[in-house]
Amino acid sequence: MSYNLLKGKKGVVFGALNENSMAWKIAERAYEEGAEVLLSNTPVSIRMGNVKQLAEKLNSQVVPADATKVEDIKKVYEAAKEQFGGSFDFILHSIGMSPNVRKKVPYDALDYTKFEQTIDISAISFHKIIQTAKQMDVINEWGSIVALSYIAAQRTLFEYNDMAEAKALLESIARSFGYIYGREKMVRINTISQSPTPTTAGSGVKGFDGLMDFTERMSPLGNADADDLANYCITLFSDLTKKVTMQNLYHDGGFSSMGMSKRAMFMYNKSLNCDECDD
Ligand SMILES: NC(=O)c1ccc[n+]([C@@H]2O[C@H](COP(=O)([O-])OP(=O)(O)OC[C@H]3O[C@@H](n4cnc5c(N)ncnc54)[C@H](O)[C@@H]3O)[C@@H](O)[C@H]2O)c1
Repeated sequence: MSYNLLKGKKGVVFGALNENSMAWKIAERAYEEGAEVLLSNTPVSIRMGNVKQLAEKLNSQVVPADATKVEDIKKVYEAAKEQFGGSFDFILHSIGMSPNVRKKVPYDALDYTKFEQTIDISAISFHKIIQTAKQMDVINEWGSIVALSYIAAQRTLFEYNDMAEAKALLESIARSFGYIYGREKMVRINTISQSPTPTTAGSGVKGFDGLMDFTERMSPLGNADADDLANYCITLFSDLTKKVTMQNLYHDGGFSSMGMSKRAMFMYNKSLNCDECDD
């Protein structure tokens, strides 16, 4: 169902890899709500995934860019200005990757080169995307920028590894830049802290199925899925949320406010004799 919430709006979506990607669902939903969308991802992800199919569906294009490279980001915005006939209204940063997680390097034996890559790809890219947009003045007044985060920025979660630091930095960038961009051009910047969601990046976290089951049991409304996220994200791109900025917004079925639930307690009690549960 469409409410035409984004009628006449235009935006750039970074990070759609395949149908499971949260950026994919958000781009689709933005289009349904009347927006014109330009997509971007790394050359490798464009080859490995199927984002070109999404671009066809949305009558758009995919512009290759490594979001750690400012020169690449500039090319994305140049292409967007050409496609849209000028500046635009929203940006989604849906980018995350940890070489340490990928190579199963534990947190207490981190490879620091990989750690720097994690931070660069998953957090500093957000700063680069915002700073480049501001310097090129490509976002309209009352525009909206959103990045996707996770509660590991505030709480320690088993095996989330160095992505926790990346998410903490990501959320901080939203606050620091949200102040400057808001003050100078009424552009708002927020992060959405999403439930665990079965995507390529999400499923790469060790023990992901157990984590999803746990958060499902702990959350009074159950986990938020990618379609729920797309709905929520659309409201942040819309004019209905013009005064929301510098926030980390939990979109997790209530998980972030829970300590213990009846459904989780039931499972915990069942496994009280578990020999492997000491850590
Ligand atoms: N899946 C979850 O459980 C979950 C929960 C909360 C937040 N998030 C966050 O949501 C965002 C999207 O992830 P997803 O779960 O949809 O997985 P995904 O694997 O579909 O998307 C991750 C994207 O990051 C892109 N990317 C990696 N390196 C890049 C680079 N250098 N330049 C540009 N793009 C690059 C990948 O190509 C991919 O499209 C990430 O920030 C992730 O941390 C995911």
